[in-house]
Amino acid sequence: MIKKIPYSRQTISKDDISSVSKVLNSTFISRGPINEEFENRIRNYVKSKFCVTTNSATSSLFIACKALNLKKGDIVWTSANSFASSANCAVLCGAKIDFIDINLENYNISIEKLEQKLKLASKKGKLPKIIIPVHYAGFPCDMEKIFKLKKKYKFKIIEDASHAIGSSYKNFKVGSSKHSDLTVFSFQAVKVITTGEGGSITTNNKNFYEKIKLLRQHGITKDKKNFKIKKNSFYPWYYEQIDLSFNFILPDINAALGLSQLRKLNQNIKKREKLVKYYRQKLSKSKIKLLDFPKHIKSSHHLLPAMYNFKSLKDKANFFRFMSKNNIFLQVLYIPIYKHPFYKKMKFDEKNFVNTETFYKNAFSLPMHLQITKKDIDIICSKINNWIQ
Ligand SMILES: Cc1ncc(COP(=O)(O)O)c(C=O)c1O
Repeated sequence: MIKKIPYSRQTISKDDISSVSKVLNSTFISRGPINEEFENRIRNYVKSKFCVTTNSATSSLFIACKALNLKKGDIVWTSANSFASSANCAVLCGAKIDFIDINLENYNISIEKLEQKLKLASKKGKLPKIIIPVHYAGFPCDMEKIFKLKKKYKFKIIEDASHAIGSSYKNFKVGSSKHSDLTVFSFQAVKVITTGEGGSITTNNKNFYEKIKLLRQHGITKDKKNFKIKKNSFYPWYYEQIDLSFNFILPDINAALGLSQLRKLNQNIKKREKLVKYYRQKLSKSKIKLLDFPKHIKSSHHLLPAMYNFKSLKDKANFFRFMSKNNIFLQVLYIPIYKHPFYKKMKFDEKNFVNTETFYKNAFSLPMHLQITKKDIDIICSKINNWIQ
């Protein structure tokens, strides 16, 4: 049988299965001690004071916005090159969304364009309340520069680090929230580590942490000090709903998978680094451009974005068809958010996103996961070279 090579895939080993089985055989399959242990391990790994897990990065982004008190009429900016969740979280809170163009060195938001946009917004009195930088593919944004702008223009920062657990920036692990208010990870099936579906929020701010914990579970508290009707704390069964939210809890079954995946994270990133190095070697003479990684950053290598000067989107689609006929499945990450019909109604001007447009025309994600072998890379690169010539 011919091997199919997907752009991404989870890797589940025996220790993952045994970790999940233990929870299945225990008293608590949800709301038990394993989820708390997972939270503690994440916060120790990234060196942040607090961590709250949730059932997806999407719900994490949503409650992160709520915890920062995002309301109707407020403004949020995020990267034009991201998954819809990075913008949906703001729109769901009633805020106005706008996008920042990317740079073509690492495909994260362009700091120059962000600065220009802030200057103009400041003049018009329309500054964003929150900016959501996205660490695309695992490559961290230039957080020191964004943090300086935060101080000047007084916005809050939620890092969308869905791709970036294990990445670091100037010796700070992404998730340390050293240059932000909150950081969100995704543990969806094909992410760097997985819980099936899942996410987390890390922060160093106790007030945000407490608000996020409340919002993870209906806005309900069991903590006496938060009760509004103090006299009722006499009743042993008593709890209170003091805010409005949904159930965003990550079950212990999933947290057990995350715990065992987290143990292997560093070692797995090393494997990904080797794959990137080999791809680079094999494509060094081709017209495909891969990312350069400066010394001050370390990527999780969740994705491996590649650029080629396609004639058009049709040309790129033909390349995809050729590769899939050869059992190699590439991906486009992402269709710029403003191109989706839901966002098109808001009438964004594509001229403001010149680099995002170039990226969308030329970029594709090469297969990158732990089941890729050097032999697979040989096949992938030889097919690419066949098509290009
Ligand atoms: C940049 C980014 N943000 C948010 C999400 C949403 O993550 P989840 O599927 O865990 O909700 C994704 C998922 O792919 C993503 O890539």
